[in-house]
Amino acid sequence: MRLDFDRPPADPVPVMQAWLEEAISRKDVPNPNAMTLCTVRPDGAPAARIVLLKDLSHEGAVFFTNRASAKGRELAGCPRAALVLHWDHLGRQVRIEGSVSQTSDAVSDAYFASRHPVSRLGARASEQSRPCSNRAQLMAALEAARAQCEDPDDPPRPAHWGGYCVALDAVELWQEGEHRLHDRLRYEHTPKGWAVQRLFP
Ligand SMILES: Cc1cc2nc3c(=O)[nH]c(=O)nc-3n(C[C@H](O)[C@H](O)[C@H](O)COP(=O)(O)O)c2cc1C
Repeated sequence: MRLDFDRPPADPVPVMQAWLEEAISRKDVPNPNAMTLCTVRPDGAPAARIVLLKDLSHEGAVFFTNRASAKGRELAGCPRAALVLHWDHLGRQVRIEGSVSQTSDAVSDAYFASRHPVSRLGARASEQSRPCSNRAQLMAALEAARAQCEDPDDPPRPAHWGGYCVALDAVELWQEGEHRLHDRLRYEHTPKGWAVQRLFP
C-alpha cells in the first residue's frame, strides 16, 4: 500500500495491517512479524528484545511469552511498552506505544495449542531469563517436562505463559525516502479518535 503522507488516512490501523501483510507475502523478508519490545525496569532503565507479533487490530498488538520472564516482571511493574517493526526490504518502520494488558486465558490457550508440541514442552521447561548452567540443564528440564505431561504430544499451557496486548495509544508510520528525506506520520489516540501529525524525518 503506497501511502500519501500529505493526505494521511484517518485511521492508521488498516495501513499497519496492510504493511504487515505485504511484508509477510514477500518471500524475501525474514521474520516479517519480528518486533522490538521495549519495557521499563523498576529503576527506570529501558530493556529491549525481539518478540513475534501474533495479532494486530484496533485492540492492540499481541505477543506471547513467559510472564515470569524478565519482560513479564517488568510489565507487571510498569504496564507500558514500546514496539518497533522494521521491514528493511520495504523501507518501512512502524512504532507503537501503549499500555499493556494480559490476553485472556482463551486467547493464550488457543495460541499455545497452535505451537509445535516440542515448543510447548520447551515453554513448560524453560525458566525464561533465569540463569542456566549449560545446554544439558535445558535438555534435562525439557525431558522432565515431557515426563510430567500426561500426553507429551499435547502439553497444556503452563499458568505462567500467555499473551500481552499493547494498546495502540500512539503509532508512527515511517516510509524511507531518497537521501534520507523520509516520511513520518504520528497518530495519537484521543477520546475523540485519532489525532495525526506529519513529522520531520
Ligand atoms: C526472531 C526472534 C523472535 C522471538 N520471539 C519471541 C517471542 O515471541 N516470545 C518470547 O518470549 N521471546 C521471543 N524471542 C526471544 C526474546 O528475544 C528474548 O530472548 C526472551 O523473550 C527473553 O527476554 P527477557 O529475558 O527480556 O524476558 C525471540 C527472539 C528472536 C530473535
